[in-house]
Amino acid sequence: MTQSAGDSRKRAERCLPAFAQRRLDSHYIDHVQHLWGGDHLLHGATPSADALLLMSNDYLDLLSVQSLRREQARCLSECSQELLMSAVFLYEDSAHQDFERRLAQFMSAEDGVLCQSGWAANVGLIQTLADAEVPVYLDMAAHASLWEGAQSAGAKAVRFAHNNAAHARTQINRHGPGIIAVDAVYSTDGSTAPLTTFAQLAEETGCILIVDESHSLGTHGPAGAGMVCEMGLAERVHFRTASLAKTFAGRAGFVSCSTEFKGFFRVKSRSAIFRSGLLAHEIAWFDAALTFIASADNRRERLHKIARHVRDELTTLGYNVSDGTEQIIALEAGSEPQTMVLRNALQRRGIFGAVFCHPATPKNRSLVRLTLNASHTDSDIARLIAACADMRGEVDLASWSSMRRQRHSPN
Ligand SMILES: Cc1ncc(COP(=O)(O)O)c(C=O)c1O
Repeated sequence: MTQSAGDSRKRAERCLPAFAQRRLDSHYIDHVQHLWGGDHLLHGATPSADALLLMSNDYLDLLSVQSLRREQARCLSECSQELLMSAVFLYEDSAHQDFERRLAQFMSAEDGVLCQSGWAANVGLIQTLADAEVPVYLDMAAHASLWEGAQSAGAKAVRFAHNNAAHARTQINRHGPGIIAVDAVYSTDGSTAPLTTFAQLAEETGCILIVDESHSLGTHGPAGAGMVCEMGLAERVHFRTASLAKTFAGRAGFVSCSTEFKGFFRVKSRSAIFRSGLLAHEIAWFDAALTFIASADNRRERLHKIARHVRDELTTLGYNVSDGTEQIIALEAGSEPQTMVLRNALQRRGIFGAVFCHPATPKNRSLVRLTLNASHTDSDIARLIAACADMRGEVDLASWSSMRRQRHSPN
């Protein structure tokens, strides 16, 4: 057990009753000590200054754009008399609502609502639309916040196989019309949803379609307007949600909707009522970020180009990355111990990705997620590919779950 884990455990022992202590023990003893051998799977070594960091969701690298930082700093130093209160009390002419309309327009939507996070956007949206009588059909890889929304609504959450609209249809025929929820780009492996097929399915079955654009807003579609716009579906998808903690590099979430729905959502959704609105300098960041993103075609092109290149190179080296196509690339080792070997092999070569394991992945499908951004240089990419070439023997590639799946695939 690490020093800090040990310290916090001692503190916990002093104050928690047995039923809670059992839960901590299951984590620290069964998981961290026994399964992970005392090393925290998600961390490992501390990156050195020259490490290649492939775990950020800031896909267009906005955090290094000085003009955006200056704009936010200016606003922080100039704004006075701010009200820190629930956004439910905000007036139509507030900067908050101006930005909501601007972002909605960018996405070819009538209107939209800012939430405190992408998590809150998804939970709040489903909670306002569903109840025990309204089933929620979720792609089995859909983000956890969409599942949480179904739970929060007291609705039946019905899963369908990943990207399998035929299976979704079978489930809808069995349980009746409800809400279909999918991600545009999936956050663990960079696969994309067949959105046109889902839009058609929703229309034919009388369902609502929600598309989470967290990993496609800003990176995909015309001027970064997202994948729904790219596919000409803005009129056919009822609601789009997004975390603005990805390409927009801030702290908020968004729901695109009609003005009528916004009026309802702002007073009915628990995530809208029981939260505070964003402050002026946060809105200033998003406003400047939106302007920047809308004219960042060169960064988008670079991102897609390196994503294709890395995928091609990894495939040539014998890795199975065929589940996805976009800037999020999963090296799926499978078991947690195997994933730790993979993590260490990458880290020894100065490459740091993000480890995903259950419940962020199905059990025994743990992986190291590599996220690319537009500022990665050709030499960064060459370094990643060289590391992946070099470590193949060390990580026992042939035994990975992703490789077994490829061997048993009919194609
Ligand atoms: C697809 C998707 N939706 C929603 C969220 C939640 O976003 P946030 O971090 O803003 O709460 C995330 C972030 O992990 C995500 O990947």
